[in-house]
Amino acid sequence: MTVLDLTDPEFIQNPYGVYDRLRRDDPVHYSKMGFWFLTRYEDVCAALRNPGLSNRPSRFSVVHESNRTRHVCADVAANLVAFRDGPKHREPRRIFAKTLTALIKERQSLVRNVAESMVARLAGKSAMEFSAEFAEPFAATCITQMMGLPSADVARLKAWSNLLFYMFHHIPPDIVDSVNQGLAEFRSYIEQVLESRRQSPQDDFLTHLLDDCHVEHELSPEEMVDNTMLLIADGIENVQAGLTGAISTVLRHREAIDAIRGGGPSIHGIVDECLRYESPGQYQGRIALEPIVIGGKTIRANSVVLLGIGAANRDPSVFQEPHRFVVDRKGAGHLAFGLGRHACIGGALFRAELEAALVGLFDGSIELALCQDSMTWTTRAGHRWPAELRLNLARRAGRC
Ligand code: HEM
Repeated sequence: MTVLDLTDPEFIQNPYGVYDRLRRDDPVHYSKMGFWFLTRYEDVCAALRNPGLSNRPSRFSVVHESNRTRHVCADVAANLVAFRDGPKHREPRRIFAKTLTALIKERQSLVRNVAESMVARLAGKSAMEFSAEFAEPFAATCITQMMGLPSADVARLKAWSNLLFYMFHHIPPDIVDSVNQGLAEFRSYIEQVLESRRQSPQDDFLTHLLDDCHVEHELSPEEMVDNTMLLIADGIENVQAGLTGAISTVLRHREAIDAIRGGGPSIHGIVDECLRYESPGQYQGRIALEPIVIGGKTIRANSVVLLGIGAANRDPSVFQEPHRFVVDRKGAGHLAFGLGRHACIGGALFRAELEAALVGLFDGSIELALCQDSMTWTTRAGHRWPAELRLNLARRAGRC
């Protein structure tokens, strides 16, 4: 019998063998740790669409409502679209998605310009740790500029974003106070910016958000502030990790680099295959609101169900040779950005950033090479985030 231990270091480094065995022998798996885990693409798609599976945090989660007075992140989570159901989710999501999507469309050139200046700064370097030296400043600069926030504030926004991701993680007791303090500062910073945009509108995210709320009180000030914090944190943390994982994947597959340089398979296809192959979000949690039957098994009300996005994206009944990176893969779409009513609203931003980074890093005058044989992945629950990516840099032959 396959044992699923989400905290096992071997599983964290390479979960795919465990996923394969579960999908084959026990696709709707009940773990003794007290949750269900789905590994089939079909089941994960259906579960993402099932309104009987709630996004509310489980009673085991740091952000469960019972922790609201103890952890600022739990108080923030109560206002976030990511942890809500029904009308309380729909309306704020509609407004945030509308404002963000319009801004991403309008500011594609911003992303390309930031990528170009980041790549230009690499001239003369012979080595770097990609995640800290490229992915983080690139992601942070893009989202701060999109939001219209001062570049002088990038460092503290980055630090606060990192703290907000304790929403998904146990908070060690000795740092609870400093996490709370940082998140309280983050909140008060966004509150002040929001107030200043009310007084003197600018051409930026928070002004557009205020404009997009046609009806007075359509969004409460707390919903505006806390969901803006989430967008900033996603725009920095998720993007930093996603870019680092994708660049590592591309460097391990020469045909992807050739395709970026020589046309051929589209860059959009390469981006999607990177997201399928090493999905930055590996599983999403849900709570069954009622008894639900999946794959012949009855899941009782109030059970925790983990939807295995990373496992679904390697399901051989949907993706031929799922463990192979195929530069021009056709067919079904991956689930890296989720599906249905909670699907990611920042996917277009990540795609734009990864495409700009791929072109800048591989089709210019530098040649990147891996300094490490394998990746080390962090233990952040539900995520497949690289710890670091060490690269050598050289001038590309024939380019000046
Ligand atoms: C590598 C990049 C990213 C990945 C892999 C990713 C993945 C996901 C996934 C799987 C979901 C669905 C969660 C669920 O079903 O409960 C989601 C939701 C969400 N994402 Fe992303 N995301 C990324 C980047 C971003 C960015 C850049 C932003 C914003 C700037 C963003 C904002 C959001 C928000 C607000 C939600 C919640 C939507 C809702 O609950 O209605 N994400 N993301």
